[in-house]
Amino acid sequence: MLTRRHALAAFAQFLISSPLLAERTGLLETALSSPENEKQLLDLVNVFDFAKLAQSRLDPVAWDYMAEGSQDEVSLRDNRKAFERIILRPKILTDVHKIDTSIDFLETKFDYPIFVCPAGGKNCFFPGGEEEAARGAAAAGAMFITNGGIDGFLESGEGPRNWWQYTTGGEFRNEDSMLDFVERLEDLGATGICFTVDNMHVSYRERSIYNRFVRRWCETGIPRDAEGNLIYQPQDRPWRTGVYPERPFPNPTWETIDQLMEMTDLPLMIKGVMTAEDTAKCAEHGVAAVVVSNHGARQLDHVGGTIEALPECVEAAKGRLPVLVDGGFRRGGDILKALALGATAVGVARPYLWGLTCFGQRGVSRVLELLRVELALDMGLAGVATIADIDKSLVRIRRL
Ligand SMILES: Cc1cc2nc3c(=O)[nH]c(=O)nc-3n(C[C@H](O)[C@H](O)[C@H](O)COP(=O)(O)O)c2cc1C
Repeated sequence: MLTRRHALAAFAQFLISSPLLAERTGLLETALSSPENEKQLLDLVNVFDFAKLAQSRLDPVAWDYMAEGSQDEVSLRDNRKAFERIILRPKILTDVHKIDTSIDFLETKFDYPIFVCPAGGKNCFFPGGEEEAARGAAAAGAMFITNGGIDGFLESGEGPRNWWQYTTGGEFRNEDSMLDFVERLEDLGATGICFTVDNMHVSYRERSIYNRFVRRWCETGIPRDAEGNLIYQPQDRPWRTGVYPERPFPNPTWETIDQLMEMTDLPLMIKGVMTAEDTAKCAEHGVAAVVVSNHGARQLDHVGGTIEALPECVEAAKGRLPVLVDGGFRRGGDILKALALGATAVGVARPYLWGLTCFGQRGVSRVLELLRVELALDMGLAGVATIADIDKSLVRIRRL
C-alpha cells in the first residue's frame, strides 16, 4: 500500500536518481561519498540492516520488484528456512589463529568464495546501477556476472578482473547471432558466459502484477507525478496474468549448448540447475560450472530451497565441474553451510542490491565485505582455518 509518505519519498528518490539531475548538481555523488554516509554505512551491523534502509528509501514498487518471489513465494521462504535445518558441528582445539577464506575457481584465485549474481533492473535501485555494481564488485575483488550494457566500462580496465556475461540465450537463435555474441565477448575480454536456463517463460511475480509494474521501469526508475501517482505511457503494458505462455522462437536446448561449445573456448556456466540429472548432463556436455539456483525464487515456485538441492547436485557432479549455489544467503554461516555441502562458491543478489540502493558501489563492496568477514569469523568459531578444511563433517541435517 502506497502511503503519502512513501509517495513523497519515492518522488524525491526519482528526482535524486535522475541521472541528468545528479550530473548537473553532483548531488548524488556528494551524498554518497560524504563522511556522514560512510558513518551511516559503517553503523549497519549486518546485511539485514541494509535491507531495512533500502526499503525505507526505495519507491515501494521498486522494493516489491526486488524483494518478490513468484506466485505463492513458497520457494522464497524455503530459500531462507532451509538453512535452519542445517546444524553446524564445530571442531575444537584446532589452530584457527589465522583464517584463510581464499579459493581457486577455474584456475583463478579469489580472496573469498562469494560472487555477484546477475540482476536485471538495477536502474530501479540506483542510476547507472549496472556499472555502479561492477565498480563495487571490482573494489571487493569479487567475480561479477553482468546483465550487460557496460561494455565501455569493462573495456576501460577499471571493471572486475573476473567477469561473466549473462544471457538467457536470446543470442543463440541462429549460428550468426551466436557467433557475433561470442566474438564480441572474446574481444571484450570476458572471463566466460553465464547462461541462465530457468526463465524460458516469464513467471507471475504477483506483487509486481498487483502494482501494475511495467518492465521498462527497470531501465528508467519508477515514474511518478508530484502527487505520487504512477505515470504510464500509451505503449506501456503492465505485467498481468491470464496470458497463455508462448515464445516467438524455439528456446535453446542441449543441442544449443553443444553448438556454443564448438564455437568458443570461453568457459560456459549454466545457472538455474536444481537436480542431479541436469548437473550430470552439464558435466557430460563439457559445461565449466553450474550454479544451483532457483532465480531467487522468482521463476518456478515450489522447487524448494537451493541449499536443499545442493547435495544431490554436488554428488552428481562427481568432481567433474565446480558447483556454485545462490538463493537466500544472508549470513557468513549460510555460506559456511553451503561450502560444507560441497559448493565451491556462493552467489548473492538482493544483499548487494540493498547496498547498491543505499550507497552505490560503496554499499556493494561493504555488503560483500560484511559477508566475507562473517564467514571468516564463523570458520574460526567452527574450528576450520581454511576452505580446504571444510567438509561434510561440519554439518548435520536436523530431521523434521
Ligand atoms: C531484482 C532481481 C533481478 C534478477 N535478475 C536476474 C537476471 O536478469 N538473470 C538471472 O539469471 N538472475 C536474476 N536474478 C536472480 C539472481 O541472479 C540470483 O539467482 C538470486 O536472486 C539469488 O538469490 P538472493 O537474491 O536471495 O541472493 C535476479 C534477482 C533479483 C532479486
